[in-house]
Amino acid sequence: MHVKPERQQSRRAELNQRLPAGLLILPTARSKNRSNDSDFPFRFDSGFYYLTGFPEPEAVLVQVLGDAPKSILFCQPKNELREIWEGFLFGPDAAREQFGFDEAYPIEQLDDKLVELIADQPRLYFPIGYDEKWDRRILGWVDRVKARAKTGVTAPSEFVDARMAIDEMRLHKDEDEIAIMREAGRISSEAHIRAMQTARAGQFEYEVEAELLYHFYKNGSRYPAYSSIVASGANATCLHYQENNRKMAQGDLLLIDAGCELHGYAADITRTFPIGGKFSGPQKDIYQLVLAAMQAGFEQVKPGIRRIAYHDAAVRTLTQGLVDLGILKGTVDGLIETEAYKQFYMHGTGHWLGLDVHDVGEYRMDGESRLLAPGMALTVEPGLYFRPLLADSPAHYVQVPEQFLHIGVRIEDDLIVTGSGHENLTALAPKTVADIEATMAG
Ligand code: GLY
Ligand code: MN
Ligand code: MN
Repeated sequence: MHVKPERQQSRRAELNQRLPAGLLILPTARSKNRSNDSDFPFRFDSGFYYLTGFPEPEAVLVQVLGDAPKSILFCQPKNELREIWEGFLFGPDAAREQFGFDEAYPIEQLDDKLVELIADQPRLYFPIGYDEKWDRRILGWVDRVKARAKTGVTAPSEFVDARMAIDEMRLHKDEDEIAIMREAGRISSEAHIRAMQTARAGQFEYEVEAELLYHFYKNGSRYPAYSSIVASGANATCLHYQENNRKMAQGDLLLIDAGCELHGYAADITRTFPIGGKFSGPQKDIYQLVLAAMQAGFEQVKPGIRRIAYHDAAVRTLTQGLVDLGILKGTVDGLIETEAYKQFYMHGTGHWLGLDVHDVGEYRMDGESRLLAPGMALTVEPGLYFRPLLADSPAHYVQVPEQFLHIGVRIEDDLIVTGSGHENLTALAPKTVADIEATMAG
């Protein structure tokens, strides 16, 4: 088990410091059906896991916030017959002991206990609007408390979205989280190296996906953090390509966007390399430009700098390069102003990273891009994508020079902001032309 109960306990204590008195109700995720009686593998709710470390479905954290704080878990009871079929359950007693809760009860007692717990609380915190069934059930408890008004109890009059405070805490990673993310970055980098060393013309993209998953699983990751993108040739110009079923040809560029999930934490790496091991001239032109944009972005990832600065730096470098290559015409400032670069670079340069691949946390504060601070984890992922002009392409789109058509390049690393700059968690995966070609040469 990869949970240190003291860590989750201290997060719950911090939440108590951050929030005015009340009752927090935080259910984990629901199991999701795949087909008929087969479910997807269960994935806990990230916020719930952050505060509890508890991995089972059908569990709810209830936290009394205020001068006499208390953490209560509701979870599935031990049930020998059910466990024969479905596997081990902690049950409330072991869960309380091993995960450091003050109290734990079988989930069947949730309705009655919550009506007691909600009585006389000034406010309720729960993930409002996140899951209709939970919204209804929680408000049903409030109604039951109101119905008891004659007995002198009062019902909460304020309802607050529990996620805001938890998300803000999750944005700032602690040492334990950084250690796990470092490991997720290392395993995922090695998987990309394995992909570079094994990908061959004539293979299907999914065979490369198999190499990635093999390396993830062999190293203790049980899932990819998101559906792996293994996109060869023109498929690389589709941002969310996931079919992964094309047969690759010599000279194709292969764009792989894949990372493992380790103990709940995501890695998110993209590398682009040529099948056959040698970049062509035009491929190299585009690749080096994206890499230069990435370097320009890296320089802006340090504390005290606005989050948007690394995107702006990448956009400026890409736009300058597109002009230098004769693809866009005009001044760099003008082309940025009119967003002409968006024909070839239509996504942002990164996002927060953590328990979710697109992790939680506000990007703006007081109407401005927020300042980076130590402990924030983010991706830097510039790219360029050259698709043919179509009859219904926007009128301002320009014709793509033949030699660049169907090229798609993205390069993505995972960074933690440190006291003085940043640490790159995925630097192990080669990304200069020379390093990629050397890695592929074996
Ligand atoms: N793999 C998803 C992303 O790069 O944002
Ligand atoms: Mn990403
Ligand atoms: Mn990615």
